[in-house]
Amino acid sequence: MEKGRKKILVIVLSVIMTCVSVSGCGQVTKESNEEEVESDAIQIGFSMDSFLIERWQRDRDIFVSKAQELGAEVNVQNANGEVSRQISQIEYFIEKEMDVIVIVAIDGNSLTEVVEKAKRAGIKVIAYDRLILNADVDLYISFDNKKVGTLMGEYLRKMVGEEGTIIRVNGSPSDHNVTLVTEGFEEALQGSAIRIDKTGYAENWLAEVGFDVTSEYLAEDKVPDGIMCGNDDIATQVVKALSENRLAGQVYVVGQDADVAACQRIVEGTQYMTVYKPLELLAQRAAEMAVAMAKGEMPQVSSSVNDGTYDVPYENLEPVAVTKENMDEVIIGKYHQKNEVYLNVQG
Ligand code: BGC
Repeated sequence: MEKGRKKILVIVLSVIMTCVSVSGCGQVTKESNEEEVESDAIQIGFSMDSFLIERWQRDRDIFVSKAQELGAEVNVQNANGEVSRQISQIEYFIEKEMDVIVIVAIDGNSLTEVVEKAKRAGIKVIAYDRLILNADVDLYISFDNKKVGTLMGEYLRKMVGEEGTIIRVNGSPSDHNVTLVTEGFEEALQGSAIRIDKTGYAENWLAEVGFDVTSEYLAEDKVPDGIMCGNDDIATQVVKALSENRLAGQVYVVGQDADVAACQRIVEGTQYMTVYKPLELLAQRAAEMAVAMAKGEMPQVSSSVNDGTYDVPYENLEPVAVTKENMDEVIIGKYHQKNEVYLNVQG
């Protein structure tokens, strides 16, 4: 049967309740019916890492609504940060003969086999936001993660000076984006005498690591000039540790995602910069591409990237640095509302 036009078996259970009236309504009989309904809509399985970080709900909502608008049905599964659960979800999608499987990989190294299995079953696979390594996915769509790191490095370098001291709290080491952000960040510092005095990793993106790394550093009676945070959720914890030491606003903190809390901190002066990634572009483009691929078309992409073994098509989107200066222009009314961002200060 043609993919994308397959017959989906839906069991419709209808319960018919009859009131048999002898005297009043003394007896009720139940009858149930199973019915097969045919759906020829394109079927997309979307396996997500988790919804703990603010952005992912937005990714899901935009993706689902665009895909539905284009006539597809989307089954969203949340792996809750567990690799084995993510693998089972993908296996379930393979069993259900989805047309396309879209994955936010928890661990870029652990999905090679299951992706190969999906591809052998004729299912298209899209790596969403995070690259899946050595798996020859049909498409990788993301923001330029190396550029995210470059922006963080350039903005910190400008503020802390050529001989400043910084510390870093990177994201999850199993997320390939972290490797790319690190590459871009280190490249941006090249040629300066900036000293990276401490580096931590938030396994599974556990933001509290940001609090611990910062507190431990400050406990040594040292104050960094800047702190690079893997994302804004980590920055929340870093700034909490700075606040407890009465240092909030005195250390340049950078992150990514333009979370509402980070945007608030930026206008309030306790975070210097965040990297905004317009999710609308990513999620809508991914949904359009998924639907096209389900129809057997290969959409045009901007470039390709090596996944360790194969060159895979890569749709590469531009991230944008946001500080107090361009907050209104870039974020307000587009990503967050003015009253949310300027909650505690005059806009
Ligand atoms: C994404 C970030 C996100 C992080 C944690 C990364 O792969 O690029 O935007 O904050 O995962 O979910």
